Amino acid sequence: MIAIGSDHAGYALKCEIIKHLEEKGIEFIDCGCSGESVDYPDIAEKTCAKVVSGEADKGILICGTGVGISISANKINGIRAALCGDWYSAKYTRLHNDANVLCMGGRVIGAGLAIEITDIFLETEFEGGRHARRVEKIMKLEEK
Ligand code: RB5
Repeated sequence: MIAIGSDHAGYALKCEIIKHLEEKGIEFIDCGCSGESVDYPDIAEKTCAKVVSGEADKGILICGTGVGISISANKINGIRAALCGDWYSAKYTRLHNDANVLCMGGRVIGAGLAIEITDIFLETEFEGGRHARRVEKIMKLEEK
């Protein structure tokens, strides 16, 4: 199950990603928006809550640049959000960081690349091993 959300600037790309998820038969929860002007921290909060609660396995967040929504998501305990504009980052943030939320910029990348990034992010498993120790250290930063 995927939780997906965007602000108005990411809405068009979110629709493309949703269409792709539907074609692949991947279940999702749409956490807004519907094209109206919204504040991206609100969408990040709503979408990430689904991941933290376990209702969704992973999240996808889109704003204009992907920056504001990723900064917001990373303020939420339990979230490791990765802003990706290329497939290599999408692959390695899963392998090495166990990222649970993918962020993209709807005004930065096109739908073709965004769909490839989404597929790689959703299909790649965390490698564990030495990376598990590092991810644990990331999560400990939430206690500081
Ligand atoms: C909205 O205009 C824009 O600021 C937002 O989508 C995002 O790019 C912020 O980081």
